[in-house]
Amino acid sequence: MTEDLINKKDIYFPSYLGSNDKLITLLNRATEILCDWFSKVDKYGPLPFDENFKCLMPDEDGNSTEDLFSDIQSLLNNSFNPVHPGSLAHLDPPPLIFSILGDLIAAGLNNNLLAYELSPSITLLEESLCKWFAKKIGFNDSSGGIAASGGTLSNLNALIAARYNSGLGSDPNSVLLVSEDAHSSFIKCTRIMGLDEANLIRVKTDKNGSMDLNNLRKTIDKCLIDKKKIFAIVATLGTTVRGAIDPIQEISEICKERNIWLHIDGSIGGIFALTSIPIKGLNNINQANSITINPQKIIGITKTSSLLLVSEMSTLENTFSTGLPYLSSKEDIVNRGEIGIQGSRPAEVIKLWLGLRFLGLKGIEDILKSSIKRKDFFLKNISKNKYEIFSGPLHIVSFLPKGIAPKDTDLWTKTKVNELIKNNFMLSRPKFKGKYFLRVVMGNYNTNEFHIEELLRLLDN
Ligand SMILES: Cc1ncc(COP(=O)(O)O)c(C=O)c1O
Repeated sequence: MTEDLINKKDIYFPSYLGSNDKLITLLNRATEILCDWFSKVDKYGPLPFDENFKCLMPDEDGNSTEDLFSDIQSLLNNSFNPVHPGSLAHLDPPPLIFSILGDLIAAGLNNNLLAYELSPSITLLEESLCKWFAKKIGFNDSSGGIAASGGTLSNLNALIAARYNSGLGSDPNSVLLVSEDAHSSFIKCTRIMGLDEANLIRVKTDKNGSMDLNNLRKTIDKCLIDKKKIFAIVATLGTTVRGAIDPIQEISEICKERNIWLHIDGSIGGIFALTSIPIKGLNNINQANSITINPQKIIGITKTSSLLLVSEMSTLENTFSTGLPYLSSKEDIVNRGEIGIQGSRPAEVIKLWLGLRFLGLKGIEDILKSSIKRKDFFLKNISKNKYEIFSGPLHIVSFLPKGIAPKDTDLWTKTKVNELIKNNFMLSRPKFKGKYFLRVVMGNYNTNEFHIEELLRLLDN
């Protein structure tokens, strides 16, 4: 393509006349570059980055399309590549093909989930999809949910609703209970809610990384003595470092006895509830008031895609509805900007919807089962003499050499991560309870047993 082909002013925006053939040419070119990047992962590895990478800024006249495609190419060549089979560091799997299409369509639509009049079909789609999810996990007819960009924001939506609905919205003595292995987003949530870190109370975990129920009961009693008011207890369904699951049934009984909001952070494990994969605790998640499910983390819905599901939709409406005086409303339809923190929001639900419609329940189960299978293969073959292993029922494994002193874990993990990346394997090194661990996340569908054997061979050296 040459610059002559595209007269910039003709193509600032899609045309409402004609066939938009210039836009089609540009889209085709972008698609080719992207697909070429996918299929050349071997050339670049999971994490190519040239220290000399230049972030070019806009100039006076604007750049040619050739310049822009070259910029895109350079950006891709210096990006983390989740499609590479050695990309095993984080909860960032390859992008599901129909989600890529969904993102494109969402960008082209440029509808706004703030209000029904700005996104009529998408508003109904998000509402229906949240309801579908909510019913699938066992909530009843008054349930529903809201999408948000990531688990952090879904958790925050939930906790603000929990606090508001318990009448503690502005009470400085209100506290939140989470396990000591819960995600760091709860620290952010506490700060955003104007609370002190002392208002985030950590319950101890047992040897499997699950919330210790005796310690939970003691902690609740102590809160009462100290005149602290608990606005929510969070049970984690899949902890970040080892994929552990808190005892949801028992925690839900404790919450019911004391009339405390139960939020489940199912950012990692919640999606398993759509399948028949037997994971303890999953059957009881409908006992919660709210649950975060983050389909971007395992099944490859493109970022960002997270849902907060609630057992009573009215709790979100009570908390977030302000009225939108500059928009017209329809009596029987809730503007989605009135049931969560965000105002304007893209139609990201399209990529979730298309992704799920494409996979079907069987496809979702296939992807999740394959991640557990890879984890099991890794666990079966890693040297138990050499490594101490921390894992749970999900697809995450953290490990360390047996007997290593905590102070030596920093250097050991750094060295290992560097060695592995030279061999095209990307693992992470989370810091957890005063030590660094090496962590492998088996959510990459492109990783096969041959790759895992190669990784284990490198770990044996
Ligand atoms: C258990 C858990 N909750 C919440 C989050 C935050 O999710 P996000 O990064 O999508 O905001 C994470 C991130 O890894 C997580 O592991």
